[in-house]
Amino acid sequence: MSVKTQLLKLLENSREAYISGSALASELSVSRNAIWKAVESLRADGYEISATTNKGYRLSARGDLISEASIAAHIKNEGVFRFDIRKSVTSTNTLLRELAVKGAPEGTVVVAEEQTAGKGRMGRAFHSPAGHGVYFSVLLRPGPKTNEAALITAAAAVATARAIEEVFGVRVGIKWVNDLYLDEKKVCGILTNATFDMENSLMESAVLGIGVNVTTPEHGYPEGIEAVAAAITDRLIGKNGERCRLIAATLDSFWGFYNELSARRFLDEYRARSILLGRDIYVLSQEGKQPARALEIDDECRLVVRFDNGEVAAIGSGEVSIRART
Ligand code: BTN
Repeated sequence: MSVKTQLLKLLENSREAYISGSALASELSVSRNAIWKAVESLRADGYEISATTNKGYRLSARGDLISEASIAAHIKNEGVFRFDIRKSVTSTNTLLRELAVKGAPEGTVVVAEEQTAGKGRMGRAFHSPAGHGVYFSVLLRPGPKTNEAALITAAAAVATARAIEEVFGVRVGIKWVNDLYLDEKKVCGILTNATFDMENSLMESAVLGIGVNVTTPEHGYPEGIEAVAAAITDRLIGKNGERCRLIAATLDSFWGFYNELSARRFLDEYRARSILLGRDIYVLSQEGKQPARALEIDDECRLVVRFDNGEVAAIGSGEVSIRART
Protein backbone atom coordinates (compact mmCIF):
# COMPACT_ATOMS: atom_id res chain seq x y z
CA MET A 1 0.00 0.00 0.00
CA SER A 2 1.44 3.41 -0.98
CA VAL A 3 2.25 6.07 1.66
CA LYS A 4 -0.65 8.12 0.26
CA THR A 5 -3.14 5.27 0.70
CA GLN A 6 -1.91 4.44 4.18
CA LEU A 7 -2.03 8.10 5.17
CA LEU A 8 -5.60 8.44 3.93
CA LYS A 9 -6.57 5.38 5.94
CA LEU A 10 -5.11 6.87 9.12
CA LEU A 11 -6.79 10.24 8.52
CA GLU A 12 -10.12 8.59 7.68
CA ASN A 13 -9.97 6.52 10.84
CA SER A 14 -9.69 9.65 12.96
CA ARG A 15 -11.88 12.07 11.00
CA GLU A 16 -12.17 15.52 12.59
CA ALA A 17 -9.28 14.81 14.99
CA TYR A 18 -5.79 16.15 14.32
CA ILE A 19 -2.80 13.81 14.10
CA SER A 20 0.67 15.31 14.29
CA GLY A 21 3.07 15.05 11.36
CA SER A 22 5.63 13.25 13.51
CA ALA A 23 3.04 10.72 14.77
CA LEU A 24 2.02 10.01 11.16
CA ALA A 25 5.64 9.76 10.04
CA SER A 26 6.54 7.30 12.78
CA GLU A 27 3.36 5.24 12.25
CA LEU A 28 4.17 4.85 8.55
CA SER A 29 7.97 4.68 9.03
CA VAL A 30 8.63 7.53 6.60
CA SER A 31 10.00 11.08 6.88
CA ARG A 32 7.78 14.07 7.70
CA ASN A 33 8.60 15.35 4.24
CA ALA A 34 7.10 12.18 2.74
CA ILE A 35 3.95 12.82 4.79
CA TRP A 36 3.78 16.37 3.48
CA LYS A 37 4.10 15.16 -0.13
CA ALA A 38 1.35 12.58 0.38
CA VAL A 39 -0.89 15.27 1.92
CA GLU A 40 -0.33 17.47 -1.14
CA SER A 41 -1.15 14.61 -3.46
CA LEU A 42 -4.39 13.85 -1.56
CA ARG A 43 -5.32 17.53 -1.72
CA ALA A 44 -4.76 17.46 -5.48
CA ASP A 45 -7.27 14.58 -5.61
CA GLY A 46 -9.80 16.86 -3.91
CA TYR A 47 -9.49 15.88 -0.25
CA GLU A 48 -9.82 18.74 2.22
CA ILE A 49 -6.98 18.31 4.68
CA SER A 50 -6.29 21.09 7.14
CA ALA A 51 -2.85 21.57 8.61
CA THR A 52 -2.17 23.41 11.88
CA THR A 53 1.35 24.05 13.15
CA ASN A 54 0.94 22.63 16.64
CA LYS A 55 -1.70 20.00 16.02
CA GLY A 56 -0.88 18.38 12.68
CA TYR A 57 -3.28 17.18 9.97
CA ARG A 58 -7.00 16.59 9.89
CA LEU A 59 -9.34 15.30 7.17
CA SER A 60 -12.56 17.25 6.76
CA ALA A 61 -15.66 15.20 7.56
CA ARG A 62 -17.40 16.77 4.58
CA GLY A 63 -17.43 15.27 1.16
CA ASP A 64 -17.49 11.67 0.05
CA LEU A 65 -14.90 11.66 -2.63
CA ILE A 66 -14.43 8.59 -4.77
CA SER A 67 -10.69 8.10 -5.09
CA GLU A 68 -8.32 5.25 -5.69
CA ALA A 69 -6.54 5.94 -2.41
CA SER A 70 -9.76 5.70 -0.43
CA ILE A 71 -10.96 2.50 -2.12
CA ALA A 72 -7.50 0.95 -1.79
CA ALA A 73 -7.46 1.89 1.90
CA HIS A 74 -10.47 -0.36 2.47
CA ILE A 75 -9.69 -3.24 0.09
CA LYS A 76 -8.64 -6.46 1.79
CA ASN A 77 -7.59 -8.28 -1.42
CA GLU A 78 -4.49 -6.17 -1.95
CA GLY A 79 -2.86 -6.22 -5.38
CA VAL A 80 -5.83 -7.86 -7.14
CA PHE A 81 -7.59 -4.79 -8.55
CA ARG A 82 -6.31 -1.92 -10.74
CA PHE A 83 -8.49 1.14 -10.51
CA ASP A 84 -9.30 3.66 -13.20
CA ILE A 85 -11.36 6.44 -11.57
CA ARG A 86 -13.25 8.85 -13.86
CA LYS A 87 -15.38 11.90 -13.16
CA SER A 88 -17.81 11.30 -16.00
CA VAL A 89 -18.14 8.53 -18.59
CA THR A 90 -20.91 7.37 -20.89
CA SER A 91 -20.92 3.93 -19.27
CA THR A 92 -18.28 2.15 -17.18
CA ASN A 93 -19.22 -1.10 -18.96
CA THR A 94 -18.59 0.47 -22.38
CA LEU A 95 -15.28 2.02 -21.33
CA LEU A 96 -14.06 -1.18 -19.70
CA ARG A 97 -14.98 -3.23 -22.77
CA GLU A 98 -12.76 -0.86 -24.81
CA LEU A 99 -9.92 -1.33 -22.30
CA ALA A 100 -10.45 -5.11 -22.41
CA VAL A 101 -10.03 -5.13 -26.20
CA LYS A 102 -6.72 -3.28 -25.71
CA GLY A 103 -5.57 -6.04 -23.35
CA ALA A 104 -6.45 -4.75 -19.87
CA PRO A 105 -5.85 -7.50 -17.29
CA GLU A 106 -8.41 -9.25 -15.10
CA GLY A 107 -9.19 -7.15 -12.05
CA THR A 108 -9.22 -3.82 -13.91
CA VAL A 109 -11.98 -1.73 -12.33
CA VAL A 110 -13.48 1.41 -13.86
CA VAL A 111 -15.33 3.62 -11.37
CA ALA A 112 -17.21 6.77 -12.40
CA GLU A 113 -18.70 9.57 -10.37
CA GLU A 114 -21.35 9.94 -13.06
CA GLN A 115 -22.53 8.08 -16.17
CA THR A 116 -24.17 10.00 -18.98
CA ALA A 117 -25.44 6.87 -20.74
CA GLY A 118 -25.50 4.20 -18.02
CA LYS A 119 -26.76 0.89 -19.40
CA GLY A 120 -29.31 -1.45 -17.89
CA ARG A 121 -30.55 -4.84 -19.03
CA MET A 122 -32.91 -5.22 -21.99
CA GLY A 123 -31.56 -2.04 -23.59
CA ARG A 124 -32.78 0.13 -20.73
CA ALA A 125 -30.89 3.12 -19.32
CA PHE A 126 -29.48 3.23 -15.78
CA HIS A 127 -29.89 6.66 -14.17
CA SER A 128 -26.44 7.56 -12.80
CA PRO A 129 -26.27 11.12 -11.38
CA ALA A 130 -23.04 12.40 -9.80
CA GLY A 131 -22.67 12.31 -6.02
CA HIS A 132 -25.62 9.98 -5.37
CA GLY A 133 -24.51 6.51 -6.27
CA VAL A 134 -21.69 4.18 -7.14
CA TYR A 135 -21.19 3.01 -10.69
CA PHE A 136 -18.37 0.61 -11.44
CA SER A 137 -17.33 -2.28 -13.65
CA VAL A 138 -14.84 -5.10 -13.12
CA LEU A 139 -13.05 -6.98 -15.87
CA LEU A 140 -13.02 -10.77 -15.50
CA ARG A 141 -11.11 -13.22 -17.64
CA PRO A 142 -12.37 -16.54 -16.31
CA GLY A 143 -10.86 -18.61 -19.16
CA PRO A 144 -11.43 -22.31 -18.56
CA LYS A 145 -12.45 -21.57 -14.95
CA THR A 146 -16.08 -21.27 -15.88
CA ASN A 147 -18.48 -20.72 -18.67
CA GLU A 148 -21.35 -19.69 -16.51
CA ALA A 149 -22.22 -16.00 -16.71
CA ALA A 150 -25.34 -16.51 -14.60
CA LEU A 151 -23.24 -17.56 -11.61
CA ILE A 152 -21.05 -14.46 -11.90
CA THR A 153 -24.09 -12.19 -11.83
CA ALA A 154 -25.68 -14.05 -8.93
CA ALA A 155 -22.42 -13.98 -6.93
CA ALA A 156 -22.20 -10.24 -7.57
CA ALA A 157 -25.76 -9.73 -6.33
CA VAL A 158 -24.98 -11.46 -3.02
CA ALA A 159 -21.63 -9.63 -2.69
CA THR A 160 -23.28 -6.25 -3.23
CA ALA A 161 -26.13 -7.04 -0.85
CA ARG A 162 -23.63 -8.00 1.86
CA ALA A 163 -21.59 -4.85 1.25
CA ILE A 164 -24.69 -2.63 1.50
CA GLU A 165 -25.53 -4.28 4.81
CA GLU A 166 -21.96 -3.89 6.10
CA VAL A 167 -21.64 -0.21 5.20
CA PHE A 168 -25.19 1.09 5.66
CA GLY A 169 -26.76 -1.46 8.01
CA VAL A 170 -29.65 -1.99 5.59
CA ARG A 171 -30.83 -5.45 4.48
CA VAL A 172 -31.72 -5.68 0.81
CA GLY A 173 -33.43 -8.50 -1.07
CA ILE A 174 -32.63 -9.95 -4.49
CA LYS A 175 -35.13 -9.91 -7.31
CA TRP A 176 -34.06 -12.61 -9.75
CA VAL A 177 -31.92 -12.32 -11.59
CA ASN A 178 -29.80 -9.39 -10.63
CA ASP A 179 -31.68 -6.50 -9.02
CA LEU A 180 -31.42 -5.52 -5.36
CA TYR A 181 -34.59 -4.31 -3.71
CA LEU A 182 -35.37 -2.37 -0.57
CA ASP A 183 -39.02 -2.18 0.48
CA GLU A 184 -40.24 -3.31 -2.95
CA LYS A 185 -38.15 -0.71 -4.80
CA LYS A 186 -34.98 -1.21 -6.82
CA VAL A 187 -31.79 0.21 -5.32
CA CYS A 188 -29.18 -1.59 -7.41
CA GLY A 189 -28.81 -3.11 -10.86
CA ILE A 190 -26.14 -5.44 -12.21
CA LEU A 191 -25.25 -5.92 -15.86
CA THR A 192 -22.77 -8.54 -17.07
CA ASN A 193 -21.58 -8.31 -20.67
CA ALA A 194 -19.61 -11.38 -21.72
CA THR A 195 -17.68 -12.19 -24.89
CA PHE A 196 -17.29 -15.79 -26.02
CA ASP A 197 -14.67 -17.64 -28.04
CA MET A 198 -16.48 -18.96 -31.15
CA GLU A 199 -14.13 -21.98 -31.35
CA ASN A 200 -14.89 -23.52 -27.98
CA SER A 201 -17.83 -21.38 -26.70
CA LEU A 202 -15.87 -20.57 -23.55
CA MET A 203 -16.21 -17.14 -22.02
CA GLU A 204 -13.24 -14.99 -23.07
CA SER A 205 -13.96 -12.11 -20.78
CA ALA A 206 -16.80 -10.55 -18.88
CA VAL A 207 -17.47 -6.99 -17.83
CA LEU A 208 -19.43 -7.02 -14.60
CA GLY A 209 -21.12 -3.65 -14.01
CA ILE A 210 -22.74 -2.67 -10.72
CA GLY A 211 -24.78 0.45 -10.05
CA VAL A 212 -26.12 1.33 -6.59
CA ASN A 213 -28.46 4.23 -5.80
CA VAL A 214 -26.91 5.39 -2.53
CA THR A 215 -28.83 8.59 -1.74
CA THR A 216 -31.89 10.07 -3.37
CA PRO A 217 -31.07 12.82 -5.91
CA GLU A 218 -32.29 16.32 -4.88
CA HIS A 219 -34.92 16.31 -7.61
CA GLY A 220 -35.89 12.67 -7.19
CA TYR A 221 -35.80 10.09 -9.98
CA PRO A 222 -36.84 10.83 -13.57
CA GLU A 223 -40.29 10.07 -14.83
CA GLY A 224 -40.60 6.47 -15.83
CA ILE A 225 -38.47 5.07 -12.99
CA GLU A 226 -39.70 7.15 -10.04
CA ALA A 227 -42.30 4.53 -9.11
CA VAL A 228 -39.79 1.69 -9.03
CA ALA A 229 -36.42 3.23 -8.06
CA ALA A 230 -35.20 4.14 -4.59
CA ALA A 231 -31.94 4.77 -2.75
CA ILE A 232 -30.28 2.99 0.17
CA THR A 233 -30.55 6.02 2.42
CA ASP A 234 -32.23 9.42 2.53
CA ARG A 235 -29.59 10.90 4.76
CA LEU A 236 -26.66 12.85 3.47
CA ILE A 237 -23.63 10.72 2.85
CA GLY A 238 -20.12 11.99 3.30
CA LYS A 239 -18.78 10.67 6.53
CA ASN A 240 -16.23 7.89 6.52
CA GLY A 241 -15.97 7.48 2.76
CA GLU A 242 -19.11 5.36 2.54
CA ARG A 243 -19.16 5.04 -1.22
CA CYS A 244 -15.52 3.91 -1.36
CA ARG A 245 -16.16 1.43 1.45
CA LEU A 246 -19.14 0.11 -0.48
CA ILE A 247 -17.05 -0.44 -3.62
CA ALA A 248 -14.22 -2.07 -1.64
CA ALA A 249 -16.53 -4.35 0.36
CA THR A 250 -18.41 -5.43 -2.79
CA LEU A 251 -15.19 -6.24 -4.67
CA ASP A 252 -13.69 -8.16 -1.74
CA SER A 253 -16.81 -10.21 -1.18
CA PHE A 254 -17.28 -10.88 -4.90
CA TRP A 255 -13.66 -11.94 -5.31
CA GLY A 256 -14.05 -14.60 -2.63
CA PHE A 257 -17.06 -16.09 -4.45
CA TYR A 258 -15.55 -15.73 -7.93
CA ASN A 259 -12.37 -17.62 -7.09
CA GLU A 260 -14.36 -20.76 -6.39
CA LEU A 261 -17.41 -20.01 -8.45
CA SER A 262 -18.33 -23.62 -9.11
CA ALA A 263 -18.58 -24.24 -5.33
CA ARG A 264 -21.54 -21.80 -5.40
CA ARG A 265 -20.84 -20.51 -1.88
CA PHE A 266 -23.17 -17.58 -2.56
CA LEU A 267 -26.17 -19.69 -3.56
CA ASP A 268 -27.82 -20.34 -0.18
CA GLU A 269 -27.70 -16.64 0.59
CA TYR A 270 -28.97 -15.80 -2.89
CA ARG A 271 -31.99 -18.00 -2.21
CA ALA A 272 -32.48 -16.63 1.30
CA ARG A 273 -32.47 -13.06 0.00
CA SER A 274 -34.84 -13.78 -2.89
CA ILE A 275 -37.95 -11.63 -2.78
CA LEU A 276 -39.72 -13.77 -5.39
CA LEU A 277 -39.93 -17.26 -3.95
CA GLY A 278 -43.46 -18.32 -3.14
CA ARG A 279 -44.90 -15.24 -4.82
CA ASP A 280 -47.17 -14.79 -7.80
CA ILE A 281 -45.32 -13.25 -10.72
CA TYR A 282 -45.55 -12.59 -14.41
CA VAL A 283 -42.93 -14.07 -16.72
CA LEU A 284 -42.29 -11.46 -19.38
CA SER A 285 -41.45 -12.56 -22.91
CA GLN A 286 -41.95 -11.40 -26.48
CA GLU A 287 -45.28 -13.20 -26.47
CA GLY A 288 -46.46 -11.09 -23.54
CA LYS A 289 -46.72 -11.77 -19.82
CA GLN A 290 -47.65 -15.17 -18.43
CA PRO A 291 -48.89 -15.57 -14.86
CA ALA A 292 -46.88 -18.01 -12.74
CA ARG A 293 -45.70 -18.77 -9.23
CA ALA A 294 -41.97 -18.54 -8.35
CA LEU A 295 -41.00 -21.89 -6.78
CA GLU A 296 -37.26 -22.02 -6.34
CA ILE A 297 -33.82 -21.02 -7.59
CA ASP A 298 -32.01 -24.06 -9.00
CA ASP A 299 -28.26 -24.77 -8.85
CA GLU A 300 -27.70 -22.95 -12.16
CA CYS A 301 -29.39 -19.85 -10.73
CA ARG A 302 -32.42 -20.36 -12.94
CA LEU A 303 -35.81 -19.40 -11.61
CA VAL A 304 -38.13 -22.41 -11.41
CA VAL A 305 -41.75 -21.38 -11.94
CA ARG A 306 -45.12 -23.07 -12.21
CA PHE A 307 -47.29 -21.40 -14.82
CA ASP A 308 -50.96 -21.06 -14.06
CA ASN A 309 -51.64 -23.85 -16.60
CA GLY A 310 -49.63 -26.23 -14.39
CA GLU A 311 -46.49 -26.39 -16.54
CA VAL A 312 -43.23 -26.15 -14.56
CA ALA A 313 -40.18 -24.52 -16.19
CA ALA A 314 -36.70 -23.33 -15.23
CA ILE A 315 -36.07 -19.87 -16.66
CA GLY A 316 -32.45 -18.99 -17.37
CA SER A 317 -32.76 -15.44 -18.61
CA GLY A 318 -35.31 -12.75 -19.20
CA GLU A 319 -37.46 -10.76 -16.89
CA VAL A 320 -40.23 -11.26 -14.37
CA SER A 321 -42.46 -8.85 -12.50
CA ILE A 322 -44.25 -9.31 -9.19
CA ARG A 323 -48.05 -9.60 -9.38
CA ALA A 324 -49.87 -7.27 -7.05
CA ARG A 325 -51.54 -9.14 -4.19
CA THR A 326 -55.29 -9.09 -4.53
C1 BTN B 1 -30.17 -3.03 -14.75
O1 BTN B 1 -30.72 -2.41 -13.86
O2 BTN B 1 -30.80 -3.56 -15.66
C2 BTN B 1 -28.67 -3.14 -14.71
C3 BTN B 1 -28.03 -1.83 -14.37
C4 BTN B 1 -26.52 -1.88 -14.33
C5 BTN B 1 -25.92 -0.53 -14.07
C6 BTN B 1 -24.44 -0.57 -13.93
S1 BTN B 1 -23.79 0.97 -13.41
C7 BTN B 1 -22.19 0.46 -13.79
C8 BTN B 1 -22.26 -0.31 -15.08
N1 BTN B 1 -22.21 0.57 -16.22
C9 BTN B 1 -23.32 0.56 -16.92
O3 BTN B 1 -23.52 1.25 -17.94
N2 BTN B 1 -24.22 -0.27 -16.37
C10 BTN B 1 -23.67 -0.92 -15.20
